[in-house]
Amino acid sequence: MSDPRVEAARRRTFAIISHPDAGKTTLTEKFLLYGGMLTTGAGAVKAKGGRRSATSDWMELEQQRGISITSTVLQFPYRDRVLNLLDTPGHRDFSEDTYRVLAATDAAIMVLDGSKGIESQTRKLFEVCRDREIPIVTFINKWDRPSRDPLELLDEIEEQLILEPVPISWPVGEGDRFRGLIDRRSGDFVRYTRTVGGASEAPEELVDHARAATEEGDLWLDAQEGIELLDVSERVFDQKRFESGELSPVFFGSALTNFGVRMILDAMVDLVPSPSPRLDRDGNPRALEKPFSGIVFKVQANMDKAHRDRIAFLRVCSGQFDRGMVVTHEPTGKPFATKYAHSVSGQERETVEQAFPGDVIGLVNATSFRVGDAVFVDEPVQWPLVPSFAPSHFRVARTLDTSKAKQFRSGISQLDEEGVVQVLREPDFGDQAPILAAVGPLQFEVVQHRLENEFGAPVELVPCSWTTARITDQASALALRGMSGVTVAHRSDGELLALFESPYWLQRLEADQPELTLTKLIAEGEG
Ligand code: G4P
Repeated sequence: MSDPRVEAARRRTFAIISHPDAGKTTLTEKFLLYGGMLTTGAGAVKAKGGRRSATSDWMELEQQRGISITSTVLQFPYRDRVLNLLDTPGHRDFSEDTYRVLAATDAAIMVLDGSKGIESQTRKLFEVCRDREIPIVTFINKWDRPSRDPLELLDEIEEQLILEPVPISWPVGEGDRFRGLIDRRSGDFVRYTRTVGGASEAPEELVDHARAATEEGDLWLDAQEGIELLDVSERVFDQKRFESGELSPVFFGSALTNFGVRMILDAMVDLVPSPSPRLDRDGNPRALEKPFSGIVFKVQANMDKAHRDRIAFLRVCSGQFDRGMVVTHEPTGKPFATKYAHSVSGQERETVEQAFPGDVIGLVNATSFRVGDAVFVDEPVQWPLVPSFAPSHFRVARTLDTSKAKQFRSGISQLDEEGVVQVLREPDFGDQAPILAAVGPLQFEVVQHRLENEFGAPVELVPCSWTTARITDQASALALRGMSGVTVAHRSDGELLALFESPYWLQRLEADQPELTLTKLIAEGEG
């Protein structure tokens, strides 16, 4: 037996958050390159522009749209550590999935496009991280292209995110004349050389300041000037403030040409905290050396069409996991034999033999597992309840082929259990016309696609005029049902939800009839 504390200390579990196109996929590929996982050059993550597809795109819809809808987990070695990279969905819409993945990470890299700065999706994802107090490392990417003034970018981070940016590296040159990076901690200047297509690691040369001044001329002077300004502004790195999410170390670079990739990986090892004891429902930490326990943070069906299976993704929280181990599923109290435990990277599956705190494993055919569930060995544990999110998009689902009613029903309940959307039912319509409620509209596309392709049940999703939901009770439901512009429906977890067309009307109702129970749904961070 290995000591879980020692193994946990070797691990770093993190996600990358970014606005689409900022370079998340490219950076992921380069991480694998520097982790020694790609022997034939980068390009394994996403088939885009003729690149090789191996790890991320498994769903047809993903491929059609060229986006990554599902979350995958990549594990790779770096230095003497094990890095677990959880991939957050990269689409423009938001789904609950994103929140859940971020609930399973210890840190996040925020990738910004150096010519754009903070974009809408960056901001939203950042807010989730802030709510969870997740430490953020900032990577300002695409420095090989014309970029904005670096000091201006720092101001933007500070002003828009209320996060103190502290540059750890500072660029010498930009665009075509991007030469390298100065490490502000040591003063070292690392000069890089481009490789063809960025397919192999960029050669690095440590250049002393006198030589740099001669060889880089104005570029060097500009960089020095920038650093002096930073020193005056007293941007100083502080580990504690980083870990509490108040301060972000900033790295510059170019994922495409591999400039700065090693520095950010080093930062993941040197700055990001290793997995720590997770708090249980009563707020007590589950020590790392306790018997095995894990938390389900994602459930995914039919990842492999040939197998029609269902995988529960679980982050190990304590102890050592050994394949074949019989674990207890806390909510049902039932034993589950982990004969088929995998590490899953998109389509590629490898059997996992052992895992430790911070690692992610996929359990095949764990049919009763739901997001937030605890599994354990010997010593029971319950995790804090996973908040359900306030939906603001609604559709009524109707089957287009009445002979497929059974497939339709089982498909809807499957997607409900996976948490792809929330499913609500009105007493009068019930299973025939369930209401689907989502945080972002892309969730509906996924439902429609999967119902048709996996369950053979084509559907139409009829737009609805509701915009806001509140949790209510039976007594208030009676009163609400008599009003216009409001519908009351059951959610599958038993909650009663009142759906309103107009938020203003809801506000008035709340003011005029305070006796009605109209509880806000928990949005992440409010719980
Ligand atoms: P995403 O996952 O965040 O959506 O972004 P992705 O890595 O797919 O990158 C989006 C585009 O930006 C890609 O170009 C990619 O090559 C480019 N890119 C990423 N990092 C850098 C960088 O450091 N420098 C430069 N110059 N470009 C970068 P594309 O044309 O959309 O795709 P492709 O055909 O080049 O693959």
